[in-house]
Amino acid sequence: MTRVTASVLLTLLAALSGIVVGTRDISGDVLRLPSEASRFFRPGAVNGDDDTVGTRWAVLIAGSNGYWNYRHQADVCHAYQLLRKGGLKEENIIVFMYDDIASNEENPRPGVIINSPHGDDVYNGVPKDYVGEDVTVGNFFAAILGNKTALTGGSGKVVDSGPNDHIFIYYTDHGGPGVLGMPTSPYLYANDLIDVLKKKHASGTYKSLVFYLEACESGSIFEGLLPEGLNIYATTASNAEESSWGTYCPGENPSPPPEYETCLGDLYSVAWMEDSDIHNLRTETLHQQYELVKRRTASDNSAFGSHVMQYGDIGLSKDNLFLYLGTNPANDNYTFIDENSLRPSSKAVNQRDADLVHFWDKYRKAPEGSLRKVEAQKQFVEAMSHRVHIDHSIKLVGKLLFGIEKGPEVLNTVRQAGQPLVDDWDCLKSLVRTFEMHCGSLSQYGMKHMRSLANICNAGIQKEKMAEASEQACVSIPLNPWSSLHKGFSA
Ligand SMILES: *[C@@H]1O[C@H](CO)[C@@H](O)[C@H](O)[C@H]1NC(C)=O
Ligand SMILES: *[C@@H]1O[C@H](CO)[C@@H](O)[C@H](O)[C@H]1NC(C)=O
Repeated sequence: MTRVTASVLLTLLAALSGIVVGTRDISGDVLRLPSEASRFFRPGAVNGDDDTVGTRWAVLIAGSNGYWNYRHQADVCHAYQLLRKGGLKEENIIVFMYDDIASNEENPRPGVIINSPHGDDVYNGVPKDYVGEDVTVGNFFAAILGNKTALTGGSGKVVDSGPNDHIFIYYTDHGGPGVLGMPTSPYLYANDLIDVLKKKHASGTYKSLVFYLEACESGSIFEGLLPEGLNIYATTASNAEESSWGTYCPGENPSPPPEYETCLGDLYSVAWMEDSDIHNLRTETLHQQYELVKRRTASDNSAFGSHVMQYGDIGLSKDNLFLYLGTNPANDNYTFIDENSLRPSSKAVNQRDADLVHFWDKYRKAPEGSLRKVEAQKQFVEAMSHRVHIDHSIKLVGKLLFGIEKGPEVLNTVRQAGQPLVDDWDCLKSLVRTFEMHCGSLSQYGMKHMRSLANICNAGIQKEKMAEASEQACVSIPLNPWSSLHKGFSA
């Protein structure tokens, strides 16, 4: 419990310093041109109508479920509203979300989802293309590839794109080195995603594709893996070695309305969307947005931020956002302004601690002696004991394989920038399976140990030795909902 108390305290401290941070960088001379004039000066932006740019497609996906992960689905709903205001058609936006938030018993505003403290409902109108158990890696890939026969369940909507079309993919969730979460099993491995993107490129069914990714260690999904030449530009919330951050969390400033015991958004996600909400996207480039989002997400290099990264065909970032997101006509008279016009950078909660913040806030506010208080305490303790079990087991496996001193060294090795996490992805998948079989599910939190498991592969350890070590490290699978193999991500 000390950990979360400390983190809330730190959050408060940081929120105070945020007031200072927010005042920097606001330049006095701001260029505001009517859209007519700005188009005159930027002839490239004149012919932005649908017939010249092809169709805009989007795939939006929240990879989590559970009320403590409210923010991921809130992000996706917000993105949907933004794209609709930008002029994309519903038939061209494919939404993946578990859809257990709006009607969750913990939701203080039934039927409503908000993505910022004073935000409007973003849930109304969001299509239920792939919800619940249909939010799967297989359906996500099938939707990108436009392969209807590969779908199981869902609305059947896929990216049925042609060679002149532009595609935008936005993913928000927990992750770990080389892996992204899913509300179902299995999770998504980086190499499989890259293969799908290569396949999509080979099919000649897009002109260019932009991928925005929010997750812990999200840089590891593309680092050393996404080649140039696929006409893909990707940005990620963090580099390959750090967490990404939830925002608008209880105890932060600005904090959610008092009845919310959960974070409402994620730092990188909210940064690109709140920027896109207010600007004329005909005149703002991907690069300009990247710089702005990078600044906001770094939170002035405080301990509460991450390094936004870019990968793939960086040259595409001179494109206007309009090509991918459209633009809201109400913003026509606002050209891009290079100021941090957004609210003072709100401080953030490490994605991996956001569940604890939820359980703690619930515990704190529940009346003394109530069933709710007991339940919140139980949830908190279960989450903590799962963490302790997983951390301990992985460390022990390392020591059993490599010795007391060498073990931690091998597990903590970080490869040079530009190198992929692991050379043999099949090995990684099989080691994850083996570990989970003996020690229980890694689940959301355990994804942080993917680098250790990758390093075990890189050291040449095969399944049999891993099985031996895991068996010794874990005498039994703990009786804890987080350890349940049902939640295992290797399937
Ligand atoms: C579509 O998916 C099916 C089923 O997984 C597969 O057999 C087929 O080859 C795929 N088609 C294409 C064009 O990739
Ligand atoms: C933009 O400015 C023009 C010229 O002042 C005005 O006619 C138009 O209504 C404005 N558009 C919006 C959306 O505010």
